[in-house]
Amino acid sequence: MKSTLKYSFFGMALLLLSSSASIAQKTQTLQPSFYTLDATGKITGYNFPALPYAYNALQPAIDSLTVSIHYDKHHRGYYTKFLAAAKENNLEGTSLEDIFKQISKYPDAVRNNAGGLYNHTLYWENMAPARGSKPTGELAAAIDLEFGSFDKFREQFSNAAKSKFGSGWAWLIIDNQGKLAVTSTSNQDNPLMDVAEKKGLPLLALDVWEHAYYLKYQNKRPDYVEAFWSLVNWDEVSKRYMLSKRFGK
Ligand SMILES: [Fe+2]
Repeated sequence: MKSTLKYSFFGMALLLLSSSASIAQKTQTLQPSFYTLDATGKITGYNFPALPYAYNALQPAIDSLTVSIHYDKHHRGYYTKFLAAAKENNLEGTSLEDIFKQISKYPDAVRNNAGGLYNHTLYWENMAPARGSKPTGELAAAIDLEFGSFDKFREQFSNAAKSKFGSGWAWLIIDNQGKLAVTSTSNQDNPLMDVAEKKGLPLLALDVWEHAYYLKYQNKRPDYVEAFWSLVNWDEVSKRYMLSKRFGK
């Protein structure tokens, strides 16, 4: 009998990145719903992840029209084009994480659309209505250790976002040594790709393409970056950090 399970993209990343954890441990990381798997764990398809809140939930920091166009046109567009690119390149059934590891071998249509699908999923999950909080617990301690303080981390991340030339992303990642780092990528690249200057597992992502902010902020990207801090869902970021540590990133 074939059963269908749905896994989050981050749960699947951990599943694929961790070879030593038990199945029982691994299944605890899983949440709905990025990949569709069969009973053996084989990927049978890709879902378009639901927006975790209403279009107007991020107001006033990010307006409703921007969220609706960004999610329903841009993000969905990457998803649709990724499905076509995956089919054309015989990648159906391959995880995004495995594709990213060898992204330099694939055409731009795979690179741009697989990145766009993955990056935006993380971006939406990173945010929640009017949080305005700070990280706590082990993540807060790790940020203090690596950056000196939360404010210094925030400044470094904001500078990465504000200074990114053209379109791209700012990231908080955990690298292969288990250390936190801030980095940025161009276009729809991400730190899981073999072409990335600084590699690691993304914990927090900020989209600085103009489509993410231009309707409300026009050319004032720094104002959008500052507003982003009022939306960060630190519970979600912290959960990713703890899972990545647990599975020995
Ligand atoms: Fe975007």
